[in-house]
Amino acid sequence: MQLKPSFLVLPLLLCLGRVCVGKEILLIISCPQQAEINCRTLRESLLQQQQLNEAIPTDYAYDIKVHILQELFNYWTLLDALPHLRGQTRLLNTNTDWIIWCQHNTHVASLRGLLEQLHRRDAQELAYYGHALYDAEATIVHHFANYKDPTWFPYPMLSAGVVFTGALLRSLVELVAVNAPNATRHSEFAIDAAHELARFIFDNLAPAVPNADDDGKTDVDFVDMLQRKIILKSADYICPWARVSPAWSLQSSETTAKKPVPLPCFLHAKPEVAAGNAAHCVHTTGAHIYFAIKTCAKFHKERIPIIERTWAPDAMRRKYYSDVADAGIPTISTGQANVPTGHCAKTLAILQLSLKDINEQADIRWLMLVDDDTLLSVPRLSALLSCYNHTAHMYLGERYGYRLYAPDGFNYHTGGAGIVLSVPLVRLMVEHCSCPTASAPDDMILGYCLQALGVPAVHVPGLHQARPQDYAPELLQLNAPISFHKYWHTSPEHTYTRWLGGTLANASSARHASRPGKDGLGTPLQLHGRGLLQLANMGAGWDGGTSKHHLDL
Ligand SMILES: *[C@@H]1O[C@H](CO)[C@@H](O)[C@H](O)[C@H]1NC(C)=O
Ligand SMILES: *[C@@H]1O[C@H](CO)[C@@H](O)[C@H](O)[C@H]1NC(C)=O
Ligand SMILES: *[C@@H]1O[C@H](CO)[C@@H](O)[C@H](O)[C@H]1NC(C)=O
Repeated sequence: MQLKPSFLVLPLLLCLGRVCVGKEILLIISCPQQAEINCRTLRESLLQQQQLNEAIPTDYAYDIKVHILQELFNYWTLLDALPHLRGQTRLLNTNTDWIIWCQHNTHVASLRGLLEQLHRRDAQELAYYGHALYDAEATIVHHFANYKDPTWFPYPMLSAGVVFTGALLRSLVELVAVNAPNATRHSEFAIDAAHELARFIFDNLAPAVPNADDDGKTDVDFVDMLQRKIILKSADYICPWARVSPAWSLQSSETTAKKPVPLPCFLHAKPEVAAGNAAHCVHTTGAHIYFAIKTCAKFHKERIPIIERTWAPDAMRRKYYSDVADAGIPTISTGQANVPTGHCAKTLAILQLSLKDINEQADIRWLMLVDDDTLLSVPRLSALLSCYNHTAHMYLGERYGYRLYAPDGFNYHTGGAGIVLSVPLVRLMVEHCSCPTASAPDDMILGYCLQALGVPAVHVPGLHQARPQDYAPELLQLNAPISFHKYWHTSPEHTYTRWLGGTLANASSARHASRPGKDGLGTPLQLHGRGLLQLANMGAGWDGGTSKHHLDL
């Protein structure tokens, strides 16, 4: 059992060019436990680039330190990892000009190109560079941050890579470490580390020299305010994905002469591939996953039909757990009265009842806990799970953090996005986890309990606690979404067809196929095949007829 985070320090020292001039670039790879292979690959690629680039002009010569920062437990948020760059590891020092912050799925397409760009910028300025994301509206995942209008506020796409000046990062470290009580944090919760970082910088730091040139504008409050703030600088060589080769490949000299040639993407994000060793992937379908859907009498008529019309046909082993048993659906009573929030007792009861149910069905490997207003792509979920070890203790979901800066902080997977547990882990939890009160927040208590049991919260980028419009489009495009949550101000059917694959398997119900809007966006043949496979795999304990019942609601 490991409660204290530790760091695997693997610094490499390379000099680009012949002479090292004492200036440093620190390249950090922020690395979740399960993605170690990707992190090592990235480091290898950087080493190779250094060897291929012997002829880098000495002007750009820096000592380059490449460091894999293991994010065990609490340190996935940059702000909370920062003190350790200075403290334990002494990676960040006064010679550090630039910090290139990567994730395991960041691609450094050209280290040399990047160095050339940085060489033109001022390392003494309090500044940071990246691919800027924007919100379309104030969103719950950003704590409804709203500086008059949420749409102008840029925050970095972390997987694309972010570059900080040493000056900025050193100021941040001081603020976070020495003076923690003085710095403003808007929330105890870490939800989107990128937005929270941008906001923290915005709220707590000011440029050494105000960016004000034109005093004539001081009447405009907003412009005036911005001049005293630090916001992310958008860099076109840091991209959300690989850009197709730009203008140099066009033969026509006329067009290239007129248009400014965009810089190549020296840094960009890569889609998350299922973490783990591909050699150990096992074919997984919806039939291997037990879906425990948490509902209550109030929503039987309103929400269950939506699930039945969308993802239910792919989730043959689904059970609705409610405060009231209703044979017509059917729902199973948890024996717990409904409470407006928290649901801890109910969720633990669901785990116990589900485990009993699962024990009678040999081929179930995973349990997924979802809400009655969660929308899912079961095929994408199955593909993801096929590369995780279902015989180990696995806890997958959309990771949030609570009080990560404090010793009592912990991670948890947020409930609405769906929480995925391997069956052995469900057994462990039923034995060891308990609720402080019946209405304690269930997802947080589970996370707290699992952290105490030494089980890390593995983040899955495709799972979402909120609606599609609550996330930047680049993020949804990079990794195919697996879930969304909440129906308000949305059409769940539209969300399902537009974002979650949306094709319904014929095998489950002919009625689906004839509904308007359920067009074949996916690949009907594969879906049909999958439907048959699920039918063939159905265990004796499962009533295959229920799906038709459900549809009569
Ligand atoms: C931080 O807070 C302490 C006590 O609240 C105060 O004495 C100190 O001056 C503050 N430091 C800064 C830099 O504001
Ligand atoms: C899966 O987990 C089990 C239990 O921890 C372990 O014994 C087994 O070696 C793991 N398999 C792989 C392929 O890692
Ligand atoms: C799906 O159902 C429709 C209408 O019932 C039918 O025309 C179509 O051939 C079916 N597709 C498959 C792949 O079974």
